[in-house]
Amino acid sequence: MEAETPKAIFLKDYKPSGWLIDEVHLDIALDPTETRVRSRLQMRPNPARTGRRGPLVLDGESLTLDRVVLDGKELSGKSFSTDDNGLRIASPPDKPFTLEIETRCNPSANKALSGLYLSKGIYCTQCEAQGFRRITYFLDRPDVLAVYTVRIEADSKAAPVLLSNGNPVERGTLDRGHRHYAIWKDPHPKPSYLFALVGGLLGAITSTFKTKSGKKVDLSIYVEPGKEERCAWAMDCLKRSMRWDEERFGREYDLDVFNIVAVSDFNMGAMENKGLNIFNDRLILASATTATDGDYFNIDRVIAHEYFHNWTGDRITCRDWFQLCLKEGLTVFRDQLYSADHRAPAVQRIYDVRMLKARQFPEDAGPLAHPVRPDRFIEINNFYTSTVYEKGAELCRMVQTLLGEKLFRKGMDLYFERHDGEAATVEDFIQCFADVSGRDFKQFMTWYSQAGTPGLVCDLKYDADKRTADLTVEQVLLPTPGQSTKKPLQIPLKLGLLGGNGNDLPLETKGPTRIENGVLEITKRKETFRFVDIPSRPVPSLLRSFSAPVNLTIALSDDDLLFLMSHDSDAFNRWQAGQDYATRLLVASVKALRKDKAPPDPSRFIEALGEVASDEMLEPALRAQTLTLPSETDLARVIAKDIDPDAIHKARNTLRRKLAQNLGARLEAIYDDMAVKEPYAPVPEQIAHRALRNSVLGLLTARGTAADVARAAHHFSSASNLTDEIAGLSALSETRGSERKAAFERFYERWHDDHIVIDHWFLYQAAIPHPGTLATVKKLARHPLMSLENPNKVRTLIGAFAANPVAFNRPDGAGYEFVAERILQIDRFNPQLAARLLTAFRSWRTLESTRRKLAEKALKGIAKSKPLSRDVYEIVTRTLE
Ligand code: PHE
Ligand code: ZN
Repeated sequence: MEAETPKAIFLKDYKPSGWLIDEVHLDIALDPTETRVRSRLQMRPNPARTGRRGPLVLDGESLTLDRVVLDGKELSGKSFSTDDNGLRIASPPDKPFTLEIETRCNPSANKALSGLYLSKGIYCTQCEAQGFRRITYFLDRPDVLAVYTVRIEADSKAAPVLLSNGNPVERGTLDRGHRHYAIWKDPHPKPSYLFALVGGLLGAITSTFKTKSGKKVDLSIYVEPGKEERCAWAMDCLKRSMRWDEERFGREYDLDVFNIVAVSDFNMGAMENKGLNIFNDRLILASATTATDGDYFNIDRVIAHEYFHNWTGDRITCRDWFQLCLKEGLTVFRDQLYSADHRAPAVQRIYDVRMLKARQFPEDAGPLAHPVRPDRFIEINNFYTSTVYEKGAELCRMVQTLLGEKLFRKGMDLYFERHDGEAATVEDFIQCFADVSGRDFKQFMTWYSQAGTPGLVCDLKYDADKRTADLTVEQVLLPTPGQSTKKPLQIPLKLGLLGGNGNDLPLETKGPTRIENGVLEITKRKETFRFVDIPSRPVPSLLRSFSAPVNLTIALSDDDLLFLMSHDSDAFNRWQAGQDYATRLLVASVKALRKDKAPPDPSRFIEALGEVASDEMLEPALRAQTLTLPSETDLARVIAKDIDPDAIHKARNTLRRKLAQNLGARLEAIYDDMAVKEPYAPVPEQIAHRALRNSVLGLLTARGTAADVARAAHHFSSASNLTDEIAGLSALSETRGSERKAAFERFYERWHDDHIVIDHWFLYQAAIPHPGTLATVKKLARHPLMSLENPNKVRTLIGAFAANPVAFNRPDGAGYEFVAERILQIDRFNPQLAARLLTAFRSWRTLESTRRKLAEKALKGIAKSKPLSRDVYEIVTRTLE
């Protein structure tokens, strides 16, 4: 908690560290309330730092200092001092020296889940971004790379498993077997944020992996004893990830062991500590009855992500935290490529883009907008954002689109070769692509420094006499906080022009325009491109595969959209055309509702959707995506101002009901056809069948006849896997009869002992689109299984409620008040989690005036509360600015 107003730090102020640490020896005696840490550091002045060095300041927080020894001599109180932020040694030697520090910390009292803490009796650490300073005094910054040797000592019974980074070196018993120790050595220099330690009573499954050069690696996944059987999928994912990185990027694993540990209390999804990844257990444990297809997919994706960090993050790390996208954007891009190799690529792209638009676009359009590489922050934990991760990934993807896959790979190879073992910058990364291609990336760099989603306003004019089509493209770059003027960007615009029969016309441009593989390069604020030899008026298919993170507008008629929905050779844009048509209808319905007018007639859209949904030539996964209408949050983003969440909900629900009423027989046929007969397996074909069948179930239940509700109830009670069980529960959650209550009761009976599965029970109650949900959530907040100290529980109840447009945005403001109170309560012990919850308010200015005022009141209430963490202080001030 901060006494004074927290200060921002700036990218432009970066200076190399005055000292370096070459070697670290840690000796850690684990104890629940009094863990003793002895640290021995081999240090030297940094030759890269010119000028006066001044005192040596080591970062440290919440530590009890017992001893400081410099080159073998204990320092007296006169030669050092400590405060809330660290340890200062007034005049360190101007040559290499050894510094020994002995401190104590209290893992049981650590509810911030940063540093060393206990999760269900298991000692574990989380050091990214700045948690290592809560374990010992250190130069806790990513450009100080050291080789670590770690000795861990603990009670033999309480903590039979002792793990750290790198390779195991030695273990032994102490105190007649009551205590024991283990020594680990990590030969790869790393920054402190990649340090990890685990101690506890854990079960494990093990396997081995042979790398492409024939090295054997021992793999282990550690979990709560008794849950070992639920680790098989995670192990399979790990091996596929290891193989994939060899085949696709030539990256081999570099230690003798690779360990994963699953813990229940974790602020994020998982962490890429060198050789010892630590996971939120919901992203490890899976079985047919306890994990949904979505969970299986996320486990695969996150295991791959953390594993890929071994090269993009660990071997090559970040010079400073402003460069966070260097490892995160790139690693997300890599995990997206991996996922695309495991299912239909268009389906993966739809998934990526849905995420980007749902999470990143609203961020970029609101008060929390920031560049992919921010230039200032108060609390770095606030910058693990969708912009850094997902938009960061889009920037890597654009580099690949501009260069082509082959050259992109060459650039990656150069990056690995040139910067292995270093702490690098975004410039270092992009330079590799400039060097392998001979191209200039100067304009491209603006993507890293400029916030906001560019608008791309397009217009196509056809001239039948000249047989030409003129495409005008204009970039609309609106101001964002702190950036009032914007520069035009370099945008790869992938496109096609469809002829009368639906085929792609050959793309021939006039003039110096470059068009390669259907990609047009946009560089100016406004430009017109001429396509020649066009026999008849073409239908443009722009931004194919979503080739850039922009907001595209082009005036297309309903007929054009219908044409694209059935003909576009780009599967992504076929899907997009359906979404665009639905959005157009829904936005018009919302307007009509608020003016008490009749909504537009959706029958042509419904007919077209019915065609796609029952098209057996199309993959079921794509058909399922097509049947999923844009979400209420998507619609709010498009409407952008004076938002009435109730009207949006009503418009969307009405369209869903009409869809089911008009397409009833067809949907029922799909429901029957898509039933999976084989035993459950998380394989693409089955997943796609379940996805299509379950989205049909949702629509049919929205129709709401007794038979429809009975179908959902039967779907729920006869389910043989969690995917179907949850689909039934979710469909019933929006109905009003006794079936809903019965289903939630039965689900509780069945799963109350399982802390992961029961989260669905909380979540689906918190997500019911009704003002009365607030009362339910208040009651659930006092449920014995609920705990604000557990981030998953907070996200599943409070987070889901804050993401429920109708309930959170109750016109009386009670939803805002409830969430604001929980934020302040959580901020006392877990600032990171509180600040993240607070981002639910980020679009408050777009609400209609009554709600806007109430949201503002809740935010101001948070702003004036004391004390506030730096995390919450930063988010609330930016949100209100
Ligand atoms: N570096 C982690 C990842 O994305 C995320 C993380 C950040 C985890 C901070 C914990 C704390 O892979
Ligand atoms: Zn990551």
